[in-house]
Amino acid sequence: MSFREVVQTRRSVHEYGDEELERETIRDIVDDARMAPSGYNLQPWEFLVLDEEEDQAALREVAYDQDHVTGAGAAVVVFGNTDPAAHAQPVFDDWLDKGYLPSEDVKEGLLESVDGMAGLPETERRVWTTRSSSLAAMTLMYAAWDRGVASCPMEGFDADALLDTFDVPEGYEPVMIVTLGYAADGTDDIENDRKTRRSVDEITHFGEFDPVAETTLDDETVDAVGADD
Ligand SMILES: Cc1cc2nc3c(=O)[nH]c(=O)nc-3n(C[C@H](O)[C@H](O)[C@H](O)COP(=O)(O)O)c2cc1C
Repeated sequence: MSFREVVQTRRSVHEYGDEELERETIRDIVDDARMAPSGYNLQPWEFLVLDEEEDQAALREVAYDQDHVTGAGAAVVVFGNTDPAAHAQPVFDDWLDKGYLPSEDVKEGLLESVDGMAGLPETERRVWTTRSSSLAAMTLMYAAWDRGVASCPMEGFDADALLDTFDVPEGYEPVMIVTLGYAADGTDDIENDRKTRRSVDEITHFGEFDPVAETTLDDETVDAVGADD
């Protein structure tokens, strides 16, 4: 699939078939997901892959009983580490080795500044990690669909209960659940028209932020772009 086709045809899928989703396939998908960009390249994400029946059932309990959590081949909880310094040393060593930093002193300065971020209020650190980890979640979904593996992102879960159920250590934000699996034959999610999107004109503001109150949905553009490929 071309990247454009991946973007245009991905859907949030709620009905999955019985075909097994191999761990090797999941590893390949994560291999692509980890190429997502992140602030300072600090890669705060971690992926908890639940592909055993009882684990998925436990996740469903904290996800307001959404049935695709157990119907999917796997449910992935995308976590974000709220400590920006957690992986800073090897990442900045790599920058220095590859010439992205001019000197050891500059590297030390960067390390200090990232260490300082650990003192930010928790809310800010949660926002910080959510930004990068969400990009990883999106990349995960595109990487999956490129392999014919459907997905659904989910924010409908009780974060505290999830942390508790899976004994997650302190300092990790459950950013999103992503279900993964092969779509059931004839699933409406794939076969129905794409859910509509707000128009380019409404959401694009060149030079001046001038949001308009009026909602202008634009299915035709989306369909036309998809049809061109
Ligand atoms: C942050 C986020 C949270 C979502 N949470 C849920 C959810 O809890 N349950 C669910 O079934 N779908 C969830 N969705 C899927 C959306 O409903 C879906 O992306 C949207 O309707 C557009 O449909 P599409 O992804 O098929 O284009 C979520 C999507 C996003 C991006």
